[in-house]
Amino acid sequence: MEYMGAHLAFKSRWHKTDEELCRHSMSFVLHKAIRTDFFESYLYLLEKYPLVKLYALTSEVIDGDMQFYARARNFYRDLPASEEGMMGDFSDLSNTDIESSREFLRKFVGGPGKAGTDFALDCGSGIGRVSKHVLLQYFNNIELVDMTEPFLEEAQNYLAEEADRVETLYCYCLQDFIPPARKYDVIWMQWVSGHLTDKDLLIFLLRCKNALKDNGLIFLKDNVAREGCRIDPIDSSLIRNSLIIRNIIEKTGMSIIAEQRQPGFPDLCVPIWTFAIQ
Ligand SMILES: C[S@@+](CC[C@H](N)C(=O)[O-])C[C@H]1O[C@@H](n2cnc3c(N)ncnc32)[C@H](O)[C@@H]1O
Repeated sequence: MEYMGAHLAFKSRWHKTDEELCRHSMSFVLHKAIRTDFFESYLYLLEKYPLVKLYALTSEVIDGDMQFYARARNFYRDLPASEEGMMGDFSDLSNTDIESSREFLRKFVGGPGKAGTDFALDCGSGIGRVSKHVLLQYFNNIELVDMTEPFLEEAQNYLAEEADRVETLYCYCLQDFIPPARKYDVIWMQWVSGHLTDKDLLIFLLRCKNALKDNGLIFLKDNVAREGCRIDPIDSSLIRNSLIIRNIIEKTGMSIIAEQRQPGFPDLCVPIWTFAIQ
């Protein structure tokens, strides 16, 4: 693993920083915080940008709020509660995305040794685009969790008569949300994992693991960088490469049992992958 060299090289720099920076200085506190919150991504980011460039987006806390999260909250607050809002510049590719997700999911549910079809949780659901077109096609009941209240309000119209099969709409940030234990056959996370720091993503995946029934699965679908790790300052998200994602998943004690690249998106888009995790 190419970046393990960087990991070791930077490790000696951490010690130097830890020894030499004033322990009460802002730089020391931020250095430690970024290292803790973004451990896997930090190694790449540190290689690409001087640490100072990360301050504005990451672990700095202003009025009790971590900037990385505060910026994302502001970004989504101004977005329309519609399919266009959920898909950004790619709303005409929503059907392509949905069809692939349905096909991929079908292989893992409803049969001996497979996940059941009773209950699914849609994480970072937005208005429920994935719930409506993918999850409700397979599961009797679903639940949605998202931090943006107007999206969940719209979900009740958007899902129309199928809204009766939604047991609960949770208005929570995933970093604060603890899904009920052993409740779900499938937990779907699409285009939201990049909004969590490495540390919070790891903790959230562990909570999801605990929320799965026997044979249950987590599906993580997201943009995956071709190389390294990129920060998107507009919506305040990270685009991780697959090595970083794999490292985080591995730390949960679960494994990737299958993975698929999203076909049919333009070549200039960042590749999108779905990981089935158990
Ligand atoms: C790009 S949209 C994707 C929505 C949906 N998954 C889809 O594919 O249509 C990202 C969603 O994640 C939500 N989100 C972002 N950060 C979050 C967080 N930390 N906790 C909970 N929801 C979050 C936003 O409110 C938004 O609804």
